[in-house]
Amino acid sequence: EKMGYDHFMIKEIYEQPKAIKDTLSPRIIKEGKLKLDEVNLSREYLNNIDKVYIVACGTAYHAGLLGKSFIEEYAKVPVMVDVASEFRYSNPFIDDRTLMIVVSQSGETADTLAALRLGKERNAKVIAITNVVGSSVSREADHVLYTWAGPEIAVASTKAYTTQVAALALVALDIAVKRGTIDEESLGNILKELKKVSGLVEEIFKDVEDIKEVSNHICKSTNLFFIGRGIDYDVAREGSLKLKEVTYIHSEAMAAGELKHGTLALIEKDTPVIALATQDNLFDKMLSNIKEVKARGAYVVALAKEGNEEIEKSVDKVIYIPKILDKLAGILAVVPLQLLAYYVALERGCDIDKPKNLAKSVTVE
Ligand code: F6R
Repeated sequence: EKMGYDHFMIKEIYEQPKAIKDTLSPRIIKEGKLKLDEVNLSREYLNNIDKVYIVACGTAYHAGLLGKSFIEEYAKVPVMVDVASEFRYSNPFIDDRTLMIVVSQSGETADTLAALRLGKERNAKVIAITNVVGSSVSREADHVLYTWAGPEIAVASTKAYTTQVAALALVALDIAVKRGTIDEESLGNILKELKKVSGLVEEIFKDVEDIKEVSNHICKSTNLFFIGRGIDYDVAREGSLKLKEVTYIHSEAMAAGELKHGTLALIEKDTPVIALATQDNLFDKMLSNIKEVKARGAYVVALAKEGNEEIEKSVDKVIYIPKILDKLAGILAVVPLQLLAYYVALERGCDIDKPKNLAKSVTVE
């Protein structure tokens, strides 16, 4: 049931604070302690792995990209991320020193399941992050970490993504603790920030009028770009996918530094560019990329953290997200992009919950 909302997509966007809380809170016990009994990989095993492979499709793959940045930062082990349809027909370097993580909302995606089987065949241990209890992926994996997002009905995935990202942060921290690559104080700080996320998503909802204003401006566009660096690039890819699938507007996500290697040729007067600039260490670099597209006449909407108001003089519009540890900003930054996709689709009269040509669960290749 839609409980008074016009569409499942918007209902599920608004369910994110609860979904994130349900996923995180049972696993963060009192001050600074992690409780991840579901994934009981031993210290010995984790100190012996030489890489992690994250494999998934679509939005779950985009969550995996953020998983890579958490695991590399906290657990100090290299991470490869691949889409399952490529992975399964590649000849990946996988052996008993590889930890594999598959991410799937439905737990039934054919390519993801095939990837899991390939990993196991090559002696990897597999953790599944999934939203459906008893799903195929959950049955075949060695360990399962459930996202507690509740049923996701809209084809466009929203609360599944944010809970997958939250779950990946927990896995990264668990590996880090067991490998001894994180000290108690840092762990405590990150867990404290994670616990804030759900409340901060609520704050983003207060700015929905700003997002509607941007939707109004871009709803007639035929082509637009999302740019970002680091985590912002990962989130840009999810924002772009969301927009494409529900609004049918062509869009592309670019690593901001890659623009001048070709794509800048497509920026002309009034081309909308959504520029994600939530990372302090990359802020100045993003500002110069923003100036490059502005100089070609782009309509630039920046996504920035509160406190970085100086960006206002360089762009047409700013959407703010609350302050948070930069590594975790992705969980917040995606929310305005989900809302943007929704409101643009609404203005365009699209079939939001069931976009054309798409199915909720892709159980055939
Ligand atoms: C996009 C979307 C898809 C799914 C993908 C994987 O909004 O929902 O890209 O993320 O089909 O599905 P699961 O997670 O069920 O394996």
